[in-house]
Amino acid sequence: MSAERHSKLGWMDLLWLLFLLGLALLPPVREIHKQMILLAIGVFQLLEGRLVERLPKRGQSYAVLLKILLAMLLISHTGEVGINSSYYPIFYLPIVTAAVYFDAWLTLAWTLIASAAYGSYLLPALQEYELAPGAIEELALRILFFFLAAMVVNRFATENNRQTRRYQMLAEQLAKTNRELEQAQAEARRSERLAALGQLSAGLAHEIRNPLGIIKGSAEILNQRVQTAEPLAAELAGYISTEVNRLSALVSRFLDFARPLRIETRACSVPEIVDRALRAVAANWSGPEIKVERHFQRDLPYAAVDENLCEQVFVNLVQNAYDAMSESGGRLRISIALGARGERPGIEVRVIDSGPGIRAELREQIFNPFFTTKKSGVGLGLSIVSKIVDEHRGSIELLDRPPGRGESGACFVIFLPLAEQAVIPEAEAAYKA
Ligand SMILES: Nc1ncnc2c1ncn2[C@@H]1O[C@H](COP(=O)(O)OP(=O)(O)O)[C@@H](O)[C@H]1O
Ligand SMILES: [Mg+2]
Repeated sequence: MSAERHSKLGWMDLLWLLFLLGLALLPPVREIHKQMILLAIGVFQLLEGRLVERLPKRGQSYAVLLKILLAMLLISHTGEVGINSSYYPIFYLPIVTAAVYFDAWLTLAWTLIASAAYGSYLLPALQEYELAPGAIEELALRILFFFLAAMVVNRFATENNRQTRRYQMLAEQLAKTNRELEQAQAEARRSERLAALGQLSAGLAHEIRNPLGIIKGSAEILNQRVQTAEPLAAELAGYISTEVNRLSALVSRFLDFARPLRIETRACSVPEIVDRALRAVAANWSGPEIKVERHFQRDLPYAAVDENLCEQVFVNLVQNAYDAMSESGGRLRISIALGARGERPGIEVRVIDSGPGIRAELREQIFNPFFTTKKSGVGLGLSIVSKIVDEHRGSIELLDRPPGRGESGACFVIFLPLAEQAVIPEAEAAYKA
């Protein structure tokens, strides 16, 4: 129920007031208490929505309780003896309200309470009057109809709620599918871009490599010739040589990147691969201390991956995380758990660091080859990761982590599909998180 609906008088509310007005115009008209109670019922009916909105848990019970009390008051002011009042159907009000708010058992309980409240008027009546023949049967009839009404309304209300929940679930599902579709499209765009860039520059790199080889060879010969005679020339030739080496290494790396991957997948344990990557990066680390937290789900099935390439993925990601925390150290959290993308089951690895994070405007660019913000960076790490993950028919995503929620660092989520016939590895059973 929306707040908007409660703030204005709806036509249903007007009808309500009209019916109450009808009751007010029927005898006893001069009974001021009766009119006050009808007024109270009308006012409460208008305010009920707000009460339930304010107090979602107890509000509904309060509403039913209050209506029972008002119903009791009304029948005690509309008949010589309350139990004989023609206004007894006012008890349908709390009963139907309970049937709309609660499940079948609670509805029954509330109906029982309302019936007891109504029936309680029998006692004072019995003290003053004799029981008329058929009176008990009449009372039983009225109360049975209370229960009948409660059950009928409750069934409709439950069915209605079920439908509403189903529509809500469908809508949520649709929204989720939409999000996944958008992400898949973004990934597809990224892959296309990488593929085109790779092809173009692979040709260029290849062409650069040959002249580089000649320059390098010539520089070395030059170096040997002028070694003793001209120290300055020798030094310069040395520079040429080392710089050419650097260039050539870069070109090789790039060619590695641009070359189509030949992946050979087999069923592997992802936690073991991640552990190896963590050890490899930690062994080469000379910066401030970085605490590594592992949250590995136990007994994970195997994923279908190329072990070496997959290790490369995690080495690159972990290395980036370490780099991001090279100023003052930090915390690297790696969690591995079973996950799914649509219908496909797989292993989900989260790499979360406590570094400065990645600015929103760089989110797409970081996956591009040669994009780097580091002084000595090459900018191939993430594009290689992206390419390898694509080849595995997996996915990589940089999660949104808006600043101000405690954790500010980057959070990468990698998804790798399970091996076709996923086995629960025996060795893994003993694997401790
Ligand atoms: N965990 C991270 N925290 C902050 N920035 C990151 C992280 N991972 C990647 N980046 C950003 O993405 C860029 C590209 O990363 P990458 O492709 O591995 O190249 P490189 O590490 O050589 O710079 C980095 O320069 C950095 O700006
Ligand atoms: Mg890197």
